[in-house]
This record gives sequence, structure tokens and C-alpha cells, in this order.
Amino acid sequence: MKTIHVLDSKTINKIAAGEVIEKPASVVKELVENSIDAKANNITVEVMHGGISSIRISDDGIGINKEDIETAFLRHATSKIKDDKDLNTINTLGFRGEALASIACVSKVEVISKTKDSLTGRKVYIDGGKIIKSEDCGCPDGTTITVKELFFNTPARLKFLKSESREGIYITEVVQNLALSHPNVSFRYKANEKSYFITKGDGDLKSAILSIYGKEIYNNIIYLNSSVDFIRIEGYVGNSTIARASRTHQSIFINGRYIKNKTITAAVETAFKSMLTINKFPFFILNIYVNPEFIDVNVHPSKLEIKFQDEQMVFKAVYKSVKDVLLSKSDILEPPIKFTSNVPPMYFKQGKMDVFNDKDENLYSSNKNEQNEGDRIKENNDVNSNINSNGAEIDSPEIKVSPSKIEPLSIVGQLHFTYIIAEGKDELYMIDQHAAHERINYEKLLNEYKASSIKSQKLLTPIIIDLSFDEKETVNKNIDLFKNIGFEIDDFGSNSISIRAIPIIYGNPNIKDVFFEILSEININESDVLNTINKVIYTMACKSSIKAGDKLNNMEMIKLVEELRHCENPYTCPHGRPTIIKTTFYELEKKFKRVQ
Ligand SMILES: Nc1ncnc2c1ncn2[C@@H]1O[C@H](COP(=O)(O)OP(=O)(O)O)[C@@H](O)[C@H]1O
Ligand SMILES: [Mg+2]
Repeated sequence: MKTIHVLDSKTINKIAAGEVIEKPASVVKELVENSIDAKANNITVEVMHGGISSIRISDDGIGINKEDIETAFLRHATSKIKDDKDLNTINTLGFRGEALASIACVSKVEVISKTKDSLTGRKVYIDGGKIIKSEDCGCPDGTTITVKELFFNTPARLKFLKSESREGIYITEVVQNLALSHPNVSFRYKANEKSYFITKGDGDLKSAILSIYGKEIYNNIIYLNSSVDFIRIEGYVGNSTIARASRTHQSIFINGRYIKNKTITAAVETAFKSMLTINKFPFFILNIYVNPEFIDVNVHPSKLEIKFQDEQMVFKAVYKSVKDVLLSKSDILEPPIKFTSNVPPMYFKQGKMDVFNDKDENLYSSNKNEQNEGDRIKENNDVNSNINSNGAEIDSPEIKVSPSKIEPLSIVGQLHFTYIIAEGKDELYMIDQHAAHERINYEKLLNEYKASSIKSQKLLTPIIIDLSFDEKETVNKNIDLFKNIGFEIDDFGSNSISIRAIPIIYGNPNIKDVFFEILSEININESDVLNTINKVIYTMACKSSIKAGDKLNNMEMIKLVEELRHCENPYTCPHGRPTIIKTTFYELEKKFKRVQ
């Protein structure tokens, strides 16, 4: 029996129309959604070369009737709605009848499908939209669609694609989100003949999270299930251990459909406020159920955006549910136990670096004009000589002295545990201690990186980290970069890695945090290697810097100001914020009306 029909023009005109296939990931999304709509229990996704050379989706769903197969590839042919009245009560993922037609136009497609009632299946080849061959064949129940040479006949679009690996990442995100929103379906995902994940299809979202994201995330999520007004929210939010520097691990599903929505993201992040450090984004996977009549899914052909009738109500409901669950489980939001190794606890308390012995003194007063300053340092050193002894035995990088851009300064004191006040010959200086230290560390690390001399330290016990498979992929691809910045990483089977050595970065930051931030930077800047290195080094510099609020002693302040003076660009932090503000004594005197 024919069940697929071309929609009438009245209905077509009401559907937000447009091209839906812009990249390989869109093909995967459309085909998998069709398999889900066909009530499949098992879906296999196999892609080659970021989906550009081949995408194959197999399912064990209801299949397509033989007499319907060719119709399915006509524009606006669908079995899911009959007319515009059905638009208000859509409960399938597709409904426009555009996807198969669009895909077939720009690739070489093979469809094999069989319904339960039919003895044989049918195989159809379509090349750039033209049916080449159609024949009966033996095959299992369900549908397999293979899409080869995507955009072979539209070179302009082919040119706009990103690298194979970037397109591969987009596909991965799509498959992950579809698997997370359908834990009752077992997904197998293979890329370049390597199996990435298999979800069980047992209906349990948490088990799907384990299959997709690995143990680290699985062990740090909190279940949430609540109803506020007419909205039901169910899912998981992550504690601070698995918060990331980017929003890659955030998924929102409305009535089973993956969407992006700023209101909901803002509601969750607002609920998390004060529980996470800034620039950290919480992990969450939320299924939100509302009466379909309250939303309009018919907004954009890619169907990622939806409109709510009452955004305010949605914000409040999401905020309240997340906040409530966080408050009730506040114990698991405690910051993770800090990883401790024998990395020195504080930058300034290291043996070699904080001693202004004769040699160092010469180092800083290498130029005659700075002789006075050497004396000042010596004085201060005498006062503070008792605090210098307990550093760890690590070879710190030698301080290279470049000509200083700022005159010698003597320290007046620390203000608010945040600013260092210093005086020069005719000027008063205020130095932001965190920004200044970031600048110093950034230049130091960058120079060490260029000289391939970032120091690394072996760990007594390696750190084992569970990754999601795409994170592991990123690590594997960038193993050299990690090596160059001081990480020694081994494969630890399945989705785990073992970190054997870490860069010596001061201030004892949580190394897992540093690692994950570096990973996010690599992901964000994937196509731009130089920028990646810069960002990675910046991340390391930032992590190892003293913070606003850290109390510094005289010695530490002198050290900081000295190093800043000798920076290539002492005036701004790597972000571009100022490190130093200065004012002349003349200005002060004018303010005090000592001079006119
Ligand atoms: N995997 C599949 N299993 C069964 N039927 C399918 C499958 N893929 C596509 N179809 C049929 O082909 C029709 C057209 O698909 P598509 O172009 O994606 O439009 P839509 O999903 O919007 O209806 C669907 O309505 C459905 O009847
Ligand atoms: Mg579809």
C-alpha cells in the first residue's frame, strides 16, 4: 500500500522551506531521524572521511514499501503529515518531505529497503537525483541508505566544507545527540572503520551517557526530574569536576528533538552561578517535555531552533528545577579533590627562582643605571631571607634578561591583596598582580615552547582520565602538541588515557582542569594551529598565575615586578588587559595643590 504522498501546495507553502543539506552532518541527521521515525530499535551509522566520501545508515525499522521508494525521493513527499492541519500536532522528527530529495540531488545514493510484510526488498540507485536502477533484492527488514560522493556535482559547496576531521566532529555531535535523545534505540557509530560507541538501547539515559562520554562524566552527574507549571524536565547535570571551558557538553531536547536555545542554556547557567568558576560551563543533558501546542517547531528547516510561546515561563521552570537539584545535592558540587604531585606549591617559593643571591643581583642590575635598584633588592632580600628556603628541587628555567622597558621600581606595598604599589623616579605605579603574572608566565612559556624546552615532570602515579571518544580522538591527533607542552600521554585502553608526565606549571593548579582546558582550546581552534598553541600556552600561563586576593610578601612582589619589567610587552596581559597603571608625582602634587 502506498503511504508516501506529495504534499499539496497549500501545505508546502506553510512549511518553512529551504535547503537542509549543507554538510555531511546534515545528511547523517536527516537519515538517522528517518530511521527513528521508522521505529527502528537498532541504527548503525558508518562514515568515511568525515562523511564526504561515504555515509551509510542502516536500521531495522518499518521499511519503505516497494511502490513508495521512488516517490520518497520526490520533493515534499512524506508519509508523516497529510495536510496543514497536522502541522500543529507533529510527533515525528521529519515532516517536510525534503531530505531524501535534497540528498539525492547532490550525491550518489543507494537505498535498500524491505517491509515486514514483503518477501523481498528493493534496491534503488539514484545518481545526482536521477534514478539509475531499481530492482528487487533479498535483504533483512528495515532500510539501509548509502550516500557516496556528497556534493560531487556542486563543487562550490564541496569547497565550503571544513577539513575531514572537522566534518567528522560535526557528525559525531549529531550522532551523540540523537543517541542521547533516544536511549531506547541502540546506536552503533563507526568512523573510518573504527567503532566509536555502541549504546545499549535499554531506555536508560545514564547508560547512554556512559557509552558515549565515558566513566569520568558518568560518575559526576546528578539526576534531575521535576515538573514546573506545564513543563516536565528530566535529565542530568554535571558537578564542577566535569565543567568545561566550552559548551560542548550541553544538550537540550524538547519532546525528543535536539535543539539549541539560548533561554534554556541561560537558565541552567544562571542556576549554576557561584557554583562554578567563571569561564566554566556546566555539563547538562536535559529532556524537556511540553505540550507541542506551546511550541512552534516549524521555524527553520534545519529544525535546530524552536520558538516557545512563553519564554519567561520556560526560563523560570528550567532555572528552578536545576537550582533545586543543585541545592539538594550541594555536597557533590564541592570542588574536586586537588591532584597533588611534588610540583612546587607556589611559584615564588621555589629554590632557584626566588633567591636573589649575588648572581641574580647582577642579573637584574646588569646595566649601570640600574645599580641603585640592585641595592634595594639586596636590602629587601636581607629582610626576607628567612622565607626562601623550602623550595622543591626542580630546575626552573633561567630568567633571561632582556633590556627592561620600565624603569627600576621599588615596592611600596600591596593593596587589597590585588595590586602592587611601586614607585619609580618620577612616577607612582599600580600593578595588577594577576595580569602581570599572566604576562610573565605567558612570555616565559612561549619562549620555552619555541626553544622546545618546556620542562616536564614525571609523575609517581600516572593520572588516568576517562574521555569521551571524540576527546580521545582529539588527544590522539594532537599527541605531539601535548608532548611539546610537557605532557606525556599513553593510551590506556578503550576511552581512557594515562598521563605520565606533566608540564611544570607553578601554583599547583588541578592538572585535570588544565588538561581539559587545553583540550577545549584545541577543539575550538582546530583549524588554526598557531592560534591553538597560543591559546594553549595562554591557558597554562593563566592557570599558573597568582590570583587577585593572594597575599604576597615583599620578596614575591619584587620578583614579580622585576620579571614584568623585563617582559617583551610588560603593559598588557595576554588578553590585552592592562598590567600597569601609572601616574606622575607631578600629577599627585597638582591634586594636592602643592603645585599649580
Ligand atoms: N529509514 C526509513 N525507514 C522507513 N521509511 C523511510 C526511511 N527514510 C525515509 N523514509 C520514508 O521516506 C519519506 C521521505 O523522507 P524525507 O525526505 O526524510 O521526509 P520526511 O522525513 O520529512 O517525511 C518519509 O516520510 C518516510 O515515509
Ligand atoms: Mg526525514
